[in-house]
Amino acid sequence: MQANSGNEPIPQQSALINFLTCWFRNPKTVGAIAPSGPALSRTMAAIVDPSVEGPIVELGPGTGPVTAALLERGIDPARLVLVEYDKDFCVTLRNKYPGVNVVQGDAFALDETLQGHTSAPFAAVVSSLPLLNFTTEQRQRLIECAMKMLRPRSPFIQFTYGANSPLPVQSHLYETNALKRIWWNLPPARVWTYRAR
Ligand SMILES: C[S@@+](CC[C@H](N)C(=O)[O-])C[C@H]1O[C@@H](n2cnc3c(N)ncnc32)[C@H](O)[C@@H]1O
Repeated sequence: MQANSGNEPIPQQSALINFLTCWFRNPKTVGAIAPSGPALSRTMAAIVDPSVEGPIVELGPGTGPVTAALLERGIDPARLVLVEYDKDFCVTLRNKYPGVNVVQGDAFALDETLQGHTSAPFAAVVSSLPLLNFTTEQRQRLIECAMKMLRPRSPFIQFTYGANSPLPVQSHLYETNALKRIWWNLPPARVWTYRAR
């Protein structure tokens, strides 16, 4: 490994700078004030069962901490399909995670965005989208579309800084579960799962 000359930012600093630059450009789309921490990222990745067949779709991966946790969990990079809106984050993700499929596009038009890139049924959807910045109708459409593309019993995994579920809890399409709040994250966050019936 080459020594850091002092002029190059260390990797975490460069991820943070990359994240903050995007935040200043578009705070509503980025939604968070800092990248997801390791405790939150690992909690999300731990819900994914690598033995279930099919693509694992990540929505709003940003600088990629959840991607790293999924790879650390032993998931084959070729199974990961990342949907990210921001062009600069896509460049970062392609450089950081060779072999992972990075699709630049709108996660709220999931079926159109993924056309030609991957096909359902998915083993899991792992979302870091800042859902509370989007309308109830947009969120409802997203979860309904995702449920149609997931295997039965496979999870849609979402974190939120809010007190309540960012998606409707009552649905004939899925069951909802809340995990314990992760205090060791900035800000503290809670992971919710929505499992296709
Ligand atoms: C909370 S940040 C992601 C945080 C990420 N876990 C990290 O630590 O870098 C939300 C991400 O969702 C992306 N995003 C927002 N709206 C999107 C959309 N409609 N489609 C795809 N990605 C979107 C943003 O560009 C941003 O990367």
